[in-house]
Amino acid sequence: MSAILIKGAYVVNEGESKPLDVLVQDDRIVKIAESIPHTTEELVEAKGLYLLPGMIDDQVHFREPGLTHKANIATESRAAVAGGITTFIEMPNTVPQATTIELLEEKFAVAAKDSLANYSFMFGGTNDNLDEIKKVDKNKVAGLKLFLGSSTGNMLVDDQDVLREIFSTTDLVISVHCEDEPTVKANLAAHVDKYGDDIPIELHPVIRSHDACYLSSSTAIKLAKETGARLHVFHLSTARETELFRNDIPLEEKKITAEVCVHHLWFSEEDYAEKGTHIKWNPAVKSAEDRSALWEALNDDRIDVLATDHAPHTLEEKANPYTSAPSGGPLVQHAMPALLTAVKKGKISIEKLVQKACHNPAILFQIEKRGYLKEGYFADMVLVDMEGKTPVSRDNILYKCGWSPFEGTTFDAKIVQTWVNGKSVYQSGKIMENKAAMRLTFNR
Ligand code: DOR
Repeated sequence: MSAILIKGAYVVNEGESKPLDVLVQDDRIVKIAESIPHTTEELVEAKGLYLLPGMIDDQVHFREPGLTHKANIATESRAAVAGGITTFIEMPNTVPQATTIELLEEKFAVAAKDSLANYSFMFGGTNDNLDEIKKVDKNKVAGLKLFLGSSTGNMLVDDQDVLREIFSTTDLVISVHCEDEPTVKANLAAHVDKYGDDIPIELHPVIRSHDACYLSSSTAIKLAKETGARLHVFHLSTARETELFRNDIPLEEKKITAEVCVHHLWFSEEDYAEKGTHIKWNPAVKSAEDRSALWEALNDDRIDVLATDHAPHTLEEKANPYTSAPSGGPLVQHAMPALLTAVKKGKISIEKLVQKACHNPAILFQIEKRGYLKEGYFADMVLVDMEGKTPVSRDNILYKCGWSPFEGTTFDAKIVQTWVNGKSVYQSGKIMENKAAMRLTFNR
């Protein structure tokens, strides 16, 4: 039996931060109390530091199989734990796409072998795999992902009859990428007419517009209301969309929920001039007013979950002209440091951050015994120094693609140590090859 006693950290959990001792035995937290006497356990003196549940990131693209020149599960799960993310849910736009149960299980097998963080995957819906969707066991996978706007991987679902049938029949949580395809296509065509392929990057939010986002998310919500589907809208990017969501009922009772990603909270359109295609995402980073509205909706509970949409591409790919530079960027190593910096800037409290990045994904996806620092729960934990610094530069980036949209930034907080299922996997800048990651199980 292995045992660890973490002494005196501010334990951030369920709306409170209190200096407490945490005792871990094997893979579980077994006791949390004001003072636990030290006997033979490994001792971690953590006075002045903060102990958080590991972040559960409900939207990552780790590119395996088929796109492993950009990333793979081994490299990106290591970057994730260095960033305080102990669990990820990975997206189906790989090659081949995860649109059959057999292909999805192959991804689980790779993660079982290579991942340092806990994992689950989303099944991909298309215009023509309805029969396979119906066979998916909701206790085995995180949920269903539908691209209601096309992005990397060509997985657009735009057959309205198929969509209604999916929404009406599946008992999976349906997570959606919302950008209205005809609107985006028309905007793009008009800009290509004017500029050719080298459209100025500042026009990305004009092409992937506010209207495209609102039309798509409001239509998906209407369909969910009509069919009773359980809908989760990924990566909100506009002020207007936040008005579509409720905050007058608890998350457990919501049938329609929303997520926001770190890049939409950190960057604004003013950053395109400096960052170029390195901050080209779908949906696009929009105005400073949109960004403020996203923070407001996150804080007042219209937005339920914080995530990354970690979506690495190579620097060479990103150096292409606008029309062929792919959208997406790597984020898992830096999301928590960025969000903790936002805590220091007063944009969100540390307790609210833990609610949105740790507790709520566990509630929303009904993940078993994770997302909290609680007796009986898996010991997925992150020790944070709120006085530490995290400089981002090419020599300390762990992503396979080797770059970050945050290069040149120094975050005002530091991940000191990360444990996955009671095993230390990251400490003071070093990955520790303690493979303890597990496939997620669900209480559904
Ligand atoms: O910017 C994005 N990149 N948005 C997505 O939805 C997909 C992602 C990717 O896979 O590259």
